[in-house]
Amino acid sequence: PAPVISVQRIGGHIGARIDGVDLAADLDDAVTAEIRAALLAHKVVFFRDQRLDAASQETFARRFGTPTTAHPTIPSLEDTPAVLDLDYSRTAGRANHWHTDVTFVQHPPLGSVLRAVTIPPYGGDTVWANTVHAYETLPDELRLLADQLWAVHSNAYDYATYRPGDDSDEARARREVFTSTEYVTEHPVVRVHPETGERSLTLGGFVRRFVGWNAEDSRDLLGILQRHVTRLENSVRWNWRDGDVVFWDNRATQHYAVADYGDLPRRVQRITLVGDAPVSVAG
Ligand code: SIN
Repeated sequence: PAPVISVQRIGGHIGARIDGVDLAADLDDAVTAEIRAALLAHKVVFFRDQRLDAASQETFARRFGTPTTAHPTIPSLEDTPAVLDLDYSRTAGRANHWHTDVTFVQHPPLGSVLRAVTIPPYGGDTVWANTVHAYETLPDELRLLADQLWAVHSNAYDYATYRPGDDSDEARARREVFTSTEYVTEHPVVRVHPETGERSLTLGGFVRRFVGWNAEDSRDLLGILQRHVTRLENSVRWNWRDGDVVFWDNRATQHYAVADYGDLPRRVQRITLVGDAPVSVAG
């Protein structure tokens, strides 16, 4: 059958815009399958001019998986506990670091559906990077090394960056994310995607060190790998409008919310889908 939705790539190696679908309407199985295929192919998909509210966002997200009902550190909406309220002027701080969501738990999320509620008149874009393409374009020697490495992920406060009396936005945000329950988990640096079989670099801002490596060497190697993941050529940047919906595969991406809008309000709401434990190339 002819596809119903229109999928247009917007980046060279990641990202596609999907048109021709109203996410608030009942999605039949065929359309759901087309969106899932686009997500797996492009890693992040963008929908303009949607009219979802929190409840219909949840109905949409449930077509693709099971929402997690609580985040370890971010508050939920009262009536729809699956929806995390990222109100950057109130609670969420500024998420300006490259990360894959919640990698510090045993089963990191499959993906997230993010809906724009209030977008500043300028700034506040989000950038995603493709961790599969990053893996595939590593020099052979580095790819072989990465295949065998494991990393320690944690949300524990990074004391190396602590400056007493620092009350900047960033310091406040860090305290919010990092002072609650501490999670520490090990994952393979290269995971095999459970749906596509592709290999991806599983790193991001929650990596503390590599298993068996000291802090300095870990930091240097992580710097090399993160620089490779986050190259502009490996990324796509989205300039939000109210009502936009973005769906990303958390098993194949990292993202960065650009904090360049001062004190202007910015509010987005996120549903995070339950994922599975990363599997290494050794199985
Ligand atoms: C997130 O990290 O899930 C939020 C990204 C954003 O605020 O754009």
